[in-house]
Amino acid sequence: MAAFGSVFMPEMALSTFNGEHWSAAQNVAADKISLHPGAHVLHYASTCFEGLKAFRHEDGSINIFRMDANIKRLAQSTRLLTLPKFSPELIEEMIVGIVKRFATEVPAPPGSMYIRPTHIGTEPTIGKAAAPSATSMLYVLLSPVGDYFSGGAKPLRLLLEEDGMRCAPHMGMVKSGGNYASALQPILQAKQAVNADQVLFCPNGDVQETGAANFLLIDGNEIITKDLDTSFLHGITRDSLLTLARNMGMQISERKLSVDELLERASKPHTEASLSGTAAVMTPIGTLIHNGKEYTVGNGGAKTPTIDKLRSALNALQWGKAPDPYGWLT
Ligand code: COI
Repeated sequence: MAAFGSVFMPEMALSTFNGEHWSAAQNVAADKISLHPGAHVLHYASTCFEGLKAFRHEDGSINIFRMDANIKRLAQSTRLLTLPKFSPELIEEMIVGIVKRFATEVPAPPGSMYIRPTHIGTEPTIGKAAAPSATSMLYVLLSPVGDYFSGGAKPLRLLLEEDGMRCAPHMGMVKSGGNYASALQPILQAKQAVNADQVLFCPNGDVQETGAANFLLIDGNEIITKDLDTSFLHGITRDSLLTLARNMGMQISERKLSVDELLERASKPHTEASLSGTAAVMTPIGTLIHNGKEYTVGNGGAKTPTIDKLRSALNALQWGKAPDPYGWLT
């Protein structure tokens, strides 16, 4: 099986902003774009993106999950990076148009079509280190996918990192390439040093998120996860899971969680912990590593009944096997 996100559909949707107008959306070859080497994005990281999925239902229909929420977040990232504003109708037309174009290629569950809308600053002006790009390009790539963590359901090992940060604290809620680049070195070091799958960033003991997904702690009937502030990504999968859990009668605590409390709660035999994200969906965590010591989460992720229940509820809605009372499918 090809690595997650390494196979692309041959066309993508594209629109460009010339400083005054957005061009009409069109489908173009997805294997290249033309950029000046001095383009703003290549020097000053004026780039943001989204990750959402389209699912095939048994009746043959293709359903995009939470497109509106992803468009809103892309618009927010665009505003916080001072990239040119686009209309929600434009990006919606691009996403729906390109998914329709490749509808026959959307894999059946558990696979899906991963959709990657991307917005980059294209103005060729390297003097603009402290000014926004006047021009930009929006495009929407498609990639048929299966599991993000190629190990399948194997519980993850996470290194708790209290010294470093994933990104600048005011930028965490921006889904920007720079945030992923700045998390790379700690993640690679953690892989080498302690064979960790990911780093859970906990600056000054405040449990935030990993390099590419949010973090949820499940202690009995309660889910504890960081309350929304600017320092981390406001995950749409996180929001979906919390909504489903709330409606199942679970208690949701969106609040600060310290490393000390996390390690204490993790040691209880029934505790579960999970990553959540479009790519990761809900992936159980078996081990936390902190200051050279390994802590097993609950039963080590061997049995995760609450994670299984929530993941199944999310998948059932996405796959058309349960009703969609929230209007999440397009
Ligand atoms: C997603 O979950 O959609 C992301 O953007 C994370 C990425 C590392 C695949």
